[in-house]
Amino acid sequence: MTAQQSSPAQSAAPQDIRVGVIGVGRMGADHVERIARRTKGARVSVVSDYLRETAEKVSATAPGSRVVDTWQEVVAAEDVDAVLIASPGQFHREQVLACIAAGKPVLCEKPLAMNPSDAYDVVLAEREAGHPVVSLGFMRRFDAGYGELKDALEAGDLGTPLLLNCKHRNADVLPGFTDTHMVYDSAVHEIDAISFFLEEPAVSVQTVMPRSTEKAPEGLHDPLLFLFRTASGTVVTDELWVSTDAGYEVRTELVGSLGAATIGQESGLVTTQQADGRWGGTVPADFRPRFAAAYDAEVQAWIAAVADGSNVAPRSATAWDGYVAAAMCEAAEQSLTADGPVEVTLLEQPA
Ligand SMILES: NC(=O)c1ccc[n+]([C@@H]2O[C@H](COP(=O)([O-])OP(=O)(O)OC[C@H]3O[C@@H](n4cnc5c(N)ncnc54)[C@H](O)[C@@H]3O)[C@@H](O)[C@H]2O)c1
Repeated sequence: MTAQQSSPAQSAAPQDIRVGVIGVGRMGADHVERIARRTKGARVSVVSDYLRETAEKVSATAPGSRVVDTWQEVVAAEDVDAVLIASPGQFHREQVLACIAAGKPVLCEKPLAMNPSDAYDVVLAEREAGHPVVSLGFMRRFDAGYGELKDALEAGDLGTPLLLNCKHRNADVLPGFTDTHMVYDSAVHEIDAISFFLEEPAVSVQTVMPRSTEKAPEGLHDPLLFLFRTASGTVVTDELWVSTDAGYEVRTELVGSLGAATIGQESGLVTTQQADGRWGGTVPADFRPRFAAAYDAEVQAWIAAVADGSNVAPRSATAWDGYVAAAMCEAAEQSLTADGPVEVTLLEQPA
C-alpha cells in the first residue's frame, strides 16, 4: 500500500487503526506527523512522553489525539489499537513486553533492546503469546532501492551473493559520539541489511581502522571498516564515515555470481558546463530526507498489516531480526578492540 499524499488534518474514519505513540522526541514527533497527515487508515489517538510539555506540543499537531502521563497508560488505553514506540532504546524491552502482554501490535524503533539477552526475552515472550505482534523500525527495508535489490536477489537475477559492500556517510555527529555509537547508531543499519539481503546472520566480524580524519570528534576513530562473514561464505564490508562535512550517503552494492547491482547512488540535480569546469550533484543533508519515503512506506505497511490481522508487514524486521542485530552489534563492538575476527554467538530461533 502506498502513502497518501499530504493532506493536513486528514479526516478520521471510524475504522481507522488508533495508534498510541510512546516518546515524541525527534523520531516520535516525525511519526505522529506522518500518521496524522499521510498514513491511510490510521490516526494518532494517544500520545505520551517523559516530558509532558513535549507530549502536549506534539499532540496538538494530531487532531483528535489526547495526552496521558505514562507509557503504561498508552498501552492500556481502550482507544489504542496499536502502539508505536520511539522512546530511547533502554526502555524498549519493557515497553514492547507490555504490548505483547496486552496483545497490541507494536512498531518499535530500533533497537529492540540494549543487549542480545534482553532482545531474546522479547523473542520468547512473543512466541509464548502465540502470534506475531512485534515489528522493528529498520526503515531501510522499505526504501525503494532496497526493495529493488531484494527483488533482484529473490528473482535469482544476481545469482549467489558473494560480496555485500556498504557505505554509510554522515555529515557530522554530536560531540561525545564514540566508536560504540558507530556500531549501535550507525552500523546497526548495515547489520540489519545483512539479515535483510542475505537472509542469514554474520558468523564473525572484524574491525579495520584506517587513520582518522581531522574532522572527527576527539577520540573517535572515523572512518571505520567492518568486515563480516556469513556461514555460507558471503563477505560484507561496511565502510562508515560519520564526519564527512558533506551530507548523507548510503550506498549498497551486491556482487553476485551472475552480476553486480548498486543502489543509493541518487545524486539529485546534476549540473554540467559550469564556469569553473566542474560538475556535480547534491546529496541529502541527513537521514531524514534520504529515507523520508521509506519511513512513510514502513508505517503504511505496518498499518496495513495491523488492519489485516497479520500485524507484521512482509519484509519488516521482526523481534528475531532485532535479536540477531543485537548479537551482531555486540560482536562488532567487541571487534573494535580485538586483534582478529570476533565470533557472533546466537541462541536458537524458537520455532
Ligand atoms: N530508524 C531510524 O533511522 C532512527 C533514527 C533516529 C532515531 N531512531 C531511534 O528512535 C528512538 C528515539 O530516538 P530520537 O532521536 O527520537 O530520541 P529523542 O531523544 O529525540 O526522543 C526521545 C523522546 O522520548 C522521551 N522519553 C524518554 N524516556 C521515556 C519513557 N520512558 N517513556 C516515554 N518517553 C520517554 C524523551 O523525553 C524524548 O522526547 C531511539 O531508539 C533511536 O535509536 C531511529
